[in-house]
Amino acid sequence: MIPQSFIDDLLYRLDITDVVGRYVQLKAAGANLQGLCPFHNEKSPSFTVSPSKQFYHCFGCGAHGNAVGFVMEHLGMTFPEAVESLAGNLGIDVPHEKGMDVPAEVRSEREELVELLTRAANYYKAQLKKSPLAIDYLKNRGLTGQVAARYGMGYAPDTYQNLETVVDNYASNTQLDLAGLTKMSDSNRRYDAFRGRIMFPIRNAKGQVIGFGGRVLGDEKPKYLNSPETPVFSKGHEVYGLFEARQAIHKMGYALVTEGYMDVVALAQWGFENAVATLGTAVTPDHVLKLFKQTDRLVFAFDGDGAGQKAAWRALLACLPHVSENKRADFIFLPAEHDPDSFIRTEGPDGFEAMVAQAASLSEYLTRYLERNYPLQQIEGSAAAISFLKPLIVQMQPTVYRSSLLRALANLLGATPMELSRHLGLKSREGGGDYFSPKNKGQFQGKKFGKYKDEPLQNNWGPRPTAKSPLLSLAARVIRAPQLVNLCDSLLALYEREEKPALEVHSFVHLLEKVRNDPNLLEARLQHAFNDETHQNWVNSVLKEARSLDDSLDFETELRSGVYQCSELWFKDELERLTEAMPTQGEQLRWYHECMQRFQELKQKRVNQL
Ligand code: CTP
Ligand code: MN
Repeated sequence: MIPQSFIDDLLYRLDITDVVGRYVQLKAAGANLQGLCPFHNEKSPSFTVSPSKQFYHCFGCGAHGNAVGFVMEHLGMTFPEAVESLAGNLGIDVPHEKGMDVPAEVRSEREELVELLTRAANYYKAQLKKSPLAIDYLKNRGLTGQVAARYGMGYAPDTYQNLETVVDNYASNTQLDLAGLTKMSDSNRRYDAFRGRIMFPIRNAKGQVIGFGGRVLGDEKPKYLNSPETPVFSKGHEVYGLFEARQAIHKMGYALVTEGYMDVVALAQWGFENAVATLGTAVTPDHVLKLFKQTDRLVFAFDGDGAGQKAAWRALLACLPHVSENKRADFIFLPAEHDPDSFIRTEGPDGFEAMVAQAASLSEYLTRYLERNYPLQQIEGSAAAISFLKPLIVQMQPTVYRSSLLRALANLLGATPMELSRHLGLKSREGGGDYFSPKNKGQFQGKKFGKYKDEPLQNNWGPRPTAKSPLLSLAARVIRAPQLVNLCDSLLALYEREEKPALEVHSFVHLLEKVRNDPNLLEARLQHAFNDETHQNWVNSVLKEARSLDDSLDFETELRSGVYQCSELWFKDELERLTEAMPTQGEQLRWYHECMQRFQELKQKRVNQL
C-alpha cells in the first residue's frame, strides 16, 4: 500500500493541467481549461480541466477524476503504476507501507530485475558506440544515431561474459539468469545469453526496461533472440515500442502495428514514430485492448508474403471483440516482397503514407476474404460462408458497428439482415440489444441502473424492456442458480452503503433475501411474493428473463461476471458522486482512491473473463 499521506502530498505538488496538458491540447475557458476529450471521439471540446479543483471532467462521456485517475485511464496503468509514474516525473520516490498487494519480496525482486536489465541496456548502448561493425550494420539499414538513441538500441559484443562489467558478482549472480540475461553452461559456468547482436530494449508502460530482442549481424540462426518469460516480462502482453510511440500515436491519431523490431525503428526513422510491434507472436485481443486504450484507430502493416497475410487475418480476429463505431481497425496490404521496413526504404514516407490512406477497413477486409474463399453466387458457398462467420460475429460487441457490418454482410450473402442474425445465432434482432446472448457472457452494455439519489428510477424494466439492466440479468441468474446466491455478497455489501438505494436495487436486495431464506422458493410463489407492485413488476421481468436462459450456461461464471459488472457500475456511480463532492482530504479522499482502484480492478477482471 502506498500511504495516503504520500498521495495527498503528491496531488498537492502536481498540477493536473500539466499532467493532462502533456496529452491533450488545452485552451483557457474562463476559470477552467478545455480540450478535445481523449476518452471519446469528439469534434468540439467538452473536456474540462479545473485548476482550482484539480479535477477533469468530460461533459460528453462523463469521464472524470484527478491527476492519478487521468494517468490510469489514459495510459492504461494501475493505481500504483500511475502514482509511481507521476512521482517519477517529479523525481520523488514512492514509499510503501506493509500490507501491500504484491508481497515485498516479489516487489523488490522485480525492482532488482529491472535494475539489472537497465544496467545491461546502458552497457549495450555504450558498446554500440564503440563497435564500428554494429554501427555500419545499422547505417546500412538506413538508421541514424538519433533513432538508435530514441529506442535505446545497443550492441552485445560477441564474447561470453560481457555483463561481468555491469555487476560485481557475475559468476554467482543468479538474478542475471532470472532476468534472462545469462545462462549456465554444462560445466556450470555463467555466460551471456545475448552475444554478437544488435540489442532492442523492450520497455513497459513506465519506460522501464523489462527485456530485450537481439538481432544477429549476419545470417546466423536464430535471427532474433528474445528474452524468455521472466517475472517482469511476458511476451504475449507487451507491445514493442509503445512507450516510445505514445505521443506520436496521440498526435497522429492512430497506431501502426507491425511484426518486427526493425519495422518499428525504420518507420520511426522515416517519420512514422507511431509504429509498434508484437514480439514475434500473433496479435492477441490483449494487445488490441492495450492499443485501443491509446487510440481509436489501429492500422496493421504486416509483411506482404503468405505469413504476413496469415498474421493479418489473426489480427482481424483479435480485433473483433474490441472494434466498434469508435474503435476502428484498418489493414495495409504490402506487395509480397516487402515488409514495412523494406517498403518505406524503397518507396519513401510518401509511398507509405499512400498505403495508410488506402488501408482496407476491417469490414472491407472481411468482405474481400469471403469473396475470395467462398463461391458466394452459389447457395452452397454462401451457406458455408455463414457458418464460417458464426464464431467470428458472436465475439463482437452488440454495437451500431456490428449492426452495420451485418447489413453489409447480409447484402453480400444474399440474405436479409434479420435472416443473417438468426443464422448467426444472435439472440435478438440487431438494434434490440442482446446483451446476454450465451456466447457473449458478461458483455452487457446496458444502461446503468439508476442514480441512487432522490430521483425515482425510470421504469426501465417496463413491459417491453429494450436494454436489459445488468442487475435484472444478474437476478435472473440467481433465480436459476439459487444455491450460488452467496456470490452476490460483495455486491450486497456495496448496496448496503446506500442511504437511499434506487428502486431496482431495493427490489434486488428484497429478492435475494427471499431466495436466501428459501432457495426452493417456487417460481409460482415468487410471482406473487411481493405486496408492492413495483417490486413485483420487476421480479416478473426477472422471472421472464430467467426462463429464457439456456440450461447449458455456466451459471457460476455468469453470476461472477454479473457481480463484477454491477459492482463496476456501482463504483462508477460512486466515483461520479465523489467527484461532484470534490473530496480533497481525509477519509473521503481515501475512499475515493479505494473506489478508483477497485473500479479499475473490476474492469480488468471483466476484460480478462471475456
Ligand atoms: N522473430 C523472432 N525470432 C525469430 C524471427 C523473428 O522473435 N527467429 C520476431 C522478431 O520480433 C522479428 C519479427 O518476428 O522482429 C519479424 O521477423 P522477420 O520478418 O523474420 O524479421 P524482420 O523484422 O524482417 O527482420 P529483419 O528485417 O532484420 O530481417
Ligand atoms: Mn525485414
